Amino acid sequence: MNPIKSICCIGAGYVGGPTMAVIAQKNPQIKVTVVDINEQRIEAWNDEDLDKLPVYEPGLSEVIAEARGRNLFFSTEVNKAIEEAEMIFISVNTPTKTYGIGKGQAADLKFVELCARQIADVAKSDKIVVEKSTLPVRTAESIKRIFDATNGDVKFQILSNPEFLAEGTAIDDLHHADRILIGGDIETAEGNAAIEALVSVYESWIPRERIITTRVWSSELSKLTANAFLAQRISSINAVSALCEKTGADVDEVAHAIGKDSRIGSKFLKSSVGFGGSCFQKDILNLVYLCNHFGLPEVADYWEQVIILNDYQKHRFAKNIIDALFNTVSGKKISFLGWAFKKDTNDTRESAAIYVADELIQDKAQIHVYDPKVSAGQIKSDLLYLWTQRGLSPAEAEDLIDRSVTISSKPEEALSQSHAVAILTEWDEFKDYDWQGIYNNMLKPAFLFDGRNIINKEQLETIGFKVQSIGKG
Ligand code: NAD
Ligand code: UGA
Repeated sequence: MNPIKSICCIGAGYVGGPTMAVIAQKNPQIKVTVVDINEQRIEAWNDEDLDKLPVYEPGLSEVIAEARGRNLFFSTEVNKAIEEAEMIFISVNTPTKTYGIGKGQAADLKFVELCARQIADVAKSDKIVVEKSTLPVRTAESIKRIFDATNGDVKFQILSNPEFLAEGTAIDDLHHADRILIGGDIETAEGNAAIEALVSVYESWIPRERIITTRVWSSELSKLTANAFLAQRISSINAVSALCEKTGADVDEVAHAIGKDSRIGSKFLKSSVGFGGSCFQKDILNLVYLCNHFGLPEVADYWEQVIILNDYQKHRFAKNIIDALFNTVSGKKISFLGWAFKKDTNDTRESAAIYVADELIQDKAQIHVYDPKVSAGQIKSDLLYLWTQRGLSPAEAEDLIDRSVTISSKPEEALSQSHAVAILTEWDEFKDYDWQGIYNNMLKPAFLFDGRNIINKEQLETIGFKVQSIGKG
């Protein structure tokens, strides 16, 4: 097979944008076009002002500056890009289903199916179609069925190439990937040729020995399994954090001690207010759904516990705040530092902050939020979505937001005259704040709840704060 000269990616989100930017950066000979139906998003990707890119990631603007307009293009012309490309990545969202069979667990594949149908309708020449989205096992088979039923003249090869980048470190993860995983039809010559075509795209910067090739289903399942294992470690250490708080042990010391065992390793043992992000919960729920579907309820229950523990951790944090503030936060100003699901990203999907805010607002708290990268509109829309999903009308939800949530672009505003500070995201800047000044401006007793264990507890207690960290008795 000749080397690939043109790639299209459907979906210009947190994965499609950065991933294709790096592929284009490292393969100047390949024309890479990223398309999306969301016009605003494409406009933002094309904005001259690199501060306005729709995704905030350290190092992303430099990659965009290098490749955009040279061999990297962002467009809303989906059909044209499909027609021109030899290789098409599908990188659209695959959220948890909110309706019908599998509601609340199974992945909603309607966007992926729409892409497959569109590719089948539009393609006039042979295509390699790459699943970049995270998909349940055997989705490739369903996509193939759509192609076979719709377009008899054109040959399609379907590959699975799950993405393992984490937000906040996406560019570094892409530049120095631990591994690239490519699943394909390894039993046929055409399948192997397609795999090799994708291998050669990555080989421009990833050593061959780090590129793993498997059959499609192993690749699809590996992605769900990797996220389940990572999330499981966080739930495991968070479970221990609850015990530490009761016993006087320190969870960070426990994590450090066990992480030194090379069989356990030190990563993903940071206890927190609970994991968030668009994928851990969705992918585990999907795994749970698949296990039940295949008649394995014990396996399903095992993985579901990771989610149950995570919900417990978020709830525990909110409850600790209410308990400490004399059993009610009604009318009290609680300052939230951070809203993003982790530092160095503007993404808020499934952020613990949303659920903690919700519980405190149910107890009639006044929440004042400051996050260095998340917009006020995003914070409001997160709460609007949660509450309308739960049955409030949009007008009721908006009214509740107006009455209970204030968003500040300056931390001093969010913190002044407050009863308690809650750290929800581990942004580095929070560590260097003038905590003495903040203390002076707060109501007393001044409470601080560190959901990320980033501040120096002893130092803040010396100032006068009543500090509660995660997993510290
Ligand atoms: P996202 O919501 O940020 O982006 C998806 C984009 O696809 C949106 O801009 C949407 O408008 C577009 N889209 C949907 N249907 C379309 C269609 N028919 N035609 C054109 N555009 C369409 O999602 P994301 O975070 O980039 O995730 C994409 C996939 O990658 C998901 O399956 C996710 O599980 C997986 N993933 C995400 C991450 C992550 O860190 N966010 C990491 C690894 C894997
Ligand atoms: C995660 C995986 O790390 C990626 O490999 C995967 O590609 C991605 O999901 C995906 O499929 O979407 P991401 O969610 O972007 O990446 O970020 P993580 O660094 O994994 O953090 C997830 C959540 O866990 C965050 O809320 C973070 O604060 C929390 N976390 C992480 C902890 O509470 N403790 C830790 O030790 C690590």
